[in-house]
Amino acid sequence: MAYRLTVIGTGYLGATHAACMADLGFEVLGLDVDEERIARLSAGDLPFYEPGLESVLRRALESRRLRFTTSYEEAAAFGDVHFLCLGTPQKAGEYAADLTYVDAAVDTLAPLLHRPCLVVGKSTVPVGTAARLAGRLAELAPAGGDAVLAWNPEFLREGFAVQDTLKPDRIVAGLPAEQGAAEHAEKVLREVYSTMLSAGTPFVAADLPTAELVKVAANAFLATKISFINAMAEVCEAAHADVTKLSEALSYDDRIGGRFLGPGLGFGGGCLPKDIRAFMARAGELGADQALTFLREVDEINIRRRIRMVDLARELLGGSFIGRTVGVLGAAFKPDSDDVRDSPALDVAASIRAQGGKVTVYDPQAMRNARRAQPSLDFGDSALSAARGAHVVLLLTEWAEFRDMAPESLAGAVSERNIVDGRNALDPERWRASGWNYRALGRP
Ligand code: UDX
Repeated sequence: MAYRLTVIGTGYLGATHAACMADLGFEVLGLDVDEERIARLSAGDLPFYEPGLESVLRRALESRRLRFTTSYEEAAAFGDVHFLCLGTPQKAGEYAADLTYVDAAVDTLAPLLHRPCLVVGKSTVPVGTAARLAGRLAELAPAGGDAVLAWNPEFLREGFAVQDTLKPDRIVAGLPAEQGAAEHAEKVLREVYSTMLSAGTPFVAADLPTAELVKVAANAFLATKISFINAMAEVCEAAHADVTKLSEALSYDDRIGGRFLGPGLGFGGGCLPKDIRAFMARAGELGADQALTFLREVDEINIRRRIRMVDLARELLGGSFIGRTVGVLGAAFKPDSDDVRDSPALDVAASIRAQGGKVTVYDPQAMRNARRAQPSLDFGDSALSAARGAHVVLLLTEWAEFRDMAPESLAGAVSERNIVDGRNALDPERWRASGWNYRALGRP
């Protein structure tokens, strides 16, 4: 059977999922309460930067398999499978995740579900949420037991969203406890993902809480790996050793592996920081907080890198930012993204500004979001303009255009040839040969 899919919530995850599933041949209806977003998506205009996604979106719209709506009635009548792709941001002033959007979506959709369907959560949620939502569904849906809830966490990375959606590392299916419902949900999910499964993607069927946990455990592990190497960078700094060599040497051990072992300014974005905090908060509620106290350390190591970056820049300027000009390259939390949520780069820039420095930031894609998030910073329209008159240049997001930059191209613009490589992305020999005072985190 060719299922009709709805995707509820058209942010990063939802817009990608909707466009990719339509591209695979499904009839898809994307729903969002944000009318402007729906208008833009309907016109083939992606509201955020993601390489390759806009062309998939446009192709899907042209095929007429993809449409968007703001109407839950329409979605409920249309869908055999409803994917929940809503954001679960960190609550203001707390570690816990804010489930307002997910809860509201289920509470609005459920009373409209008059026929059999599968509701599939994809959002990252605290363990136990799926069981609670299954209860809401049973209570509110006129279809009763014919409206089944499953959990299918999504692991996509910004910058690789299309690739990660079409060629995932694994598909995890959290299934309901009742056997008949579980068999039905597994069958539907296997059909929905048949293209990926026939290409050999592993399918892991689990219960609801395990599926919810897989996602946060994966993010906790990745964050831990990054903070591990950044902790080694701290030791390297104290011991006059080179963390990039250390990381390279570790990476040849297959048991360790080199991915997410890149030392530098650490992790940011809309997922890793808030997910590890929400995980700690939830473990606390479950009485298992001791199991995750190490994540507090992971978070602290990560934040310390930003402080160290600011300290290093200040040191280079003789102890104060007052009256000094700082050129910042990068604002996005990572390259190939325009996302500035919890961006280490913007955090460092704002902190230097707060300490009296004149900061000019340039990012290839994130300027609009950066301006909105940090209006008190100055912005340039190129790396060169951000570096103009600078007493120190900071590389904070390793876009290819910065990695490939010739040291000579900035040399004429700056006041002093000081560069701090916050991502260990530049070749120190090349910069030093060109007369720069090159400094990096975790290197002598
Ligand atoms: C992450 C997870 O990778 C993804 O599976 C999940 O679905 C969402 O969260 P994302 O936030 O898009 O994805 O970015 P990711 O590529 O994981 O990078 C996270 C942060 O870690 C970035 O700020 C990046 O700069 C940093 N990072 C990554 C390092 O500092 N060092 C590394 O070696 C790798």
